[in-house]
Formats: sequence, structure tokens, C-alpha cells
Amino acid sequence: MKIGVFDSGLGGLVITKAFVEAMPEYDYVYYGDTAHLPYGEKTSGQILSYSIEAIKYLISQKCGIIIIACNTATSIALRYLQQRFIPEYAPDIKVLGVVIPTVEEALSDNAVKVGVLATQATVRSHIYQTELKKIKPDLEVIETAAPELVPAIENNDFALAESKAQEYAKSFSDIDSLILGCTHYPLLKQAIRQALPERVKVVSQDELMGAKLKDYLYRHMEIDICLSRGGSLQILVSKLNEHYRQTALRLFPEVEVEERENA
Ligand code: DGL
Repeated sequence: MKIGVFDSGLGGLVITKAFVEAMPEYDYVYYGDTAHLPYGEKTSGQILSYSIEAIKYLISQKCGIIIIACNTATSIALRYLQQRFIPEYAPDIKVLGVVIPTVEEALSDNAVKVGVLATQATVRSHIYQTELKKIKPDLEVIETAAPELVPAIENNDFALAESKAQEYAKSFSDIDSLILGCTHYPLLKQAIRQALPERVKVVSQDELMGAKLKDYLYRHMEIDICLSRGGSLQILVSKLNEHYRQTALRLFPEVEVEERENA
């Protein structure tokens, strides 16, 4: 069995890179649903049905554990997948998201005020606020949707993405931790850190997910024992174009991205 990683597009490759660097021995399958990107502007019903389809696909690719790197899909679909879909469809498969590990990291330095920058759908779900307050009920949480950032990054307009991100960052200058709650935002983390006072901790998922998954597998030997160790990575998308090919090559120069069959 392999480790599956699912995202709405190729942003999740940044998280995959963290996994591969922390645990190069495993076999990984990455699936980016580029045909339906961006998820952040879709309805909850659409995000749920795309996510179910993506999980079915990764299961068909022999994944025994699947990490939903997409914050939007985690926010909308993870609970349903874990509680309803997986127990019936494939009870031996484990599906995990990115929100809980991120929340743990954001609270690790005794924060009293936490900010969240995410897509519209993630903010609408209030998943970060809910999970943060489960651990720390008196926490102050500010959730802000940043609808311009994903399209600007997708259009390769980093000047626009960085200047918008810095505008958002300025409204978070009096908080303790800022969660970058979207797979695309690690690409903007330097610009965001520059715009914030040094004491504000910027929680970027590429810096935490490698260690979190490693720790999870260490604590769940029953899953770890089923995972193959061939050191491979396959990158699949539902729709391939030259822009996606170049984006994937920048992060993994040795892997050729492929369009899946029957997308
Ligand atoms: N991958 C999504 C996330 O982490 C953002 C991109 C999109 O809107 O599809 O929330």
C-alpha cells in the first residue's frame, strides 16, 4: 500500500515535498484535481462530491493511507469521509486531514489570539475556529477569507499575490499565531512574515506536516506495516496543461506529471 496525497490542484505538492523529505523510503501517489480547481469558490456539495471521487481514485491506486492536503476539502469533506463514507466503502483505509495538526501547532506556544487566512469555503465552514476553541475555549480567533490569492498564484502573478498577502497580514499584527490555512499560501510565507512583527508565529503547513505524519505512522504501526517502501512518487492530475507540468517540475524535477485515465 502507498501513501496518497490529495489536493484540489498542485499546491499540495509543497506538503508532499515535506513528506518525501521526512520519509523518503515510502511510495507516494499525489492526485491534484486540477479540472475542478479552485475548490475555495465552490459550494459545499461540489467540494464534497469532488473529494469523494478523489478518495475513490486514490484507493483504486492502492493507497492505504490518504492525506487530504487541501484545507478546503478537509473543512468540508473530512468528517463525512471518515465517519460515513470510508467505514462502508473501504474500512481498512485511513483518511486524514491537515486542520488538526495545524491547530496543534498554532496553539503550541500558548497563544491567546490566533488568526486564520484561508479560502472562502474554509472560512465559511469555521472549521479552524471550531477546532481551536475545542482545545482552548477562551481563545480569540479571527478568520479571514483571501479569495484573490489562489487565482493570482495560479496565474503566476506572484507580485500581486505577495502584495495582497501583505495587505492581509497587516490586519493580523496584534495576534500571536497566524495559520496559513491553504496549500498555496506556503509560497507566500516569506512575504507574509516580512509584513508581520517578529513575535507573530506564522504557521505554514509545509513546515509541520512532515513531522506530524512521521509521528502518526510511528504511533500507528498497524498502518505503517502495510506501507510499501520503494521510494517512488507518482504525480497525477485530473487535467494536465503546460502550466501544471512546469509547476510540478519546479518542485520535483525528476517526476513527470501525468493526467489520470477516465477523469
Ligand atoms: N488547495 C486549497 C486549500 O488548501 C486551495 C485552492 C483551491 O481553492 O482549490 O484550501
